Amino acid sequence: MKFFIDTANLKEIKEAHDLGVLDGVTTNPSLMAKEGITGHDKIMQHYVDICNIVDGPVSAEVISTDFEGMVREGEALAELHENIVVKIPMIKDGVKALKYFAERDIKTNCTLIFSAGQALLAAKAGATYVSPFVGRLDDISTDGIDLIDQIRAIYDNYFFETQILAASVRHPMHIIQCAEIGADVMTGPLKSILALLNHPLTDSGLAQFLADYQKGNK
Ligand code: G3P
Repeated sequence: MKFFIDTANLKEIKEAHDLGVLDGVTTNPSLMAKEGITGHDKIMQHYVDICNIVDGPVSAEVISTDFEGMVREGEALAELHENIVVKIPMIKDGVKALKYFAERDIKTNCTLIFSAGQALLAAKAGATYVSPFVGRLDDISTDGIDLIDQIRAIYDNYFFETQILAASVRHPMHIIQCAEIGADVMTGPLKSILALLNHPLTDSGLAQFLADYQKGNK
């Protein structure tokens, strides 16, 4: 399973990259705003800065909601760097834009996926990735992990090449459950990735090993 980090924070991207397990980055307009990155030129430069840290796919989201606007924005984003993946919302014009980009070998990530039907449409349109939002479904008392399972079954039935990018991951159990199901990618915050490190028996075991070493080497 590939690990993407879901942030526009350069320090966190660098930390995950330095850990050696980072395969790519996803961003969205909310994450950019959270870092204070506003205005067209600053946003475009920020994508380039991210691409200069991570040698892997970097999702950059369009803000247009009409086909022509998405095409215009997506083409400009794709020009920025070869690793840019154009992030397109799951709306009617978005489906058309996915098809347009697929025909031109421009990689896409269809975002705001909340149902199997939406994931099926995105795959039919040739999306490179689909982003089902696991945490936001959990937020409304619907099991987000079940959706990953459903999409995996559908894609496997028809050998769709679209990759399942489990998004809105909030904690380590989401990551483990996505891995069990066979999501191709998960994207989450740094804290969820780092939480995979933790086990109290690791901590106490290491403390014991170090204490025994000290005793033996007095
Ligand atoms: O990748 C989508 C993600 O940014 C949404 O996460 O935690 O805002 O639901 P969240």
